[in-house]
Amino acid sequence: MSSIPVRRLSAGIGLRLPHIEEAVATSPAVGWLEIHPENFLSNPHAMELLDQLAERFPISVHTVGLSVGSACGIDRHHATRVRALIDRIDPVLVSGHLAWATHGAEYLNDLLPLPYTDETLRVVAAQLRQVQDALGRTFLLENPSNYLGFAGSTMTEVDFLTALVERTGCQLLCDVSNVHLSGHNMGYDPRAYLDGLPVDAVRELHLGGFTAEDDEATPGAQVLIDTHASRVADPAWELYAYAIRRFGHRPTLIEWDNDIPDLGTLVGEARMADAIAAGAREPERSHVGAR
Ligand SMILES: [Fe+2]
Repeated sequence: MSSIPVRRLSAGIGLRLPHIEEAVATSPAVGWLEIHPENFLSNPHAMELLDQLAERFPISVHTVGLSVGSACGIDRHHATRVRALIDRIDPVLVSGHLAWATHGAEYLNDLLPLPYTDETLRVVAAQLRQVQDALGRTFLLENPSNYLGFAGSTMTEVDFLTALVERTGCQLLCDVSNVHLSGHNMGYDPRAYLDGLPVDAVRELHLGGFTAEDDEATPGAQVLIDTHASRVADPAWELYAYAIRRFGHRPTLIEWDNDIPDLGTLVGEARMADAIAAGAREPERSHVGAR
């Protein structure tokens, strides 16, 4: 496996099951791979293929099922299974969302939002510590895509994330596309959001495609949906260059989960990320539109 420090890795791609055989056969020219452990825990064949890839690529484990924001506690059984996968493949990063996806024994298959209050902060901080203890790793917490806010919130999302870093020692995964689309949907400046995040805590960046739909509540307006079903859009690339200037080089991932294209298209998006990151320190030079 590569001996390049994690921080200096070139861009990676989210490895989805339709590509795993081809990835084993061809070793695509990307810096690293990110997997959802939920795709592998009950799939022994895919797990064996992942073992082979883990010998060649740095792997990041991005869990979508831990539900650190649940009011009913984390899924400890799931955490135990994810820990076994982590111990098996020794990933370079472990992450998940600031969201909730379970209620009691029910798994809702969605990433649902939280009110940002002192009470929520206490609950999520306690559960994040449990997650980090259960997984034996520092957990990178990802900012959500937002479509609504809670009237009862008493702090901003940036302040909430920063408080979690301070209270738990967790780190942050900044999904730049989520910042762009949430800024559009919620009416805030995405650059100000990035300016507010603690630089040293941001250990990974995500980029993914989104879809614009008519906003039924506001005639003539559009809402951006985090579909991961297309190329990264130019405004997200521009915000990515801003993020690189603010945070420095960070391992960056291309996410594509629906209408999944051929592997070469994903590799091309990763190369685009590398090119924009390389040029980002020269503000007068724009790589956007160079495709
Ligand atoms: Fe993401």
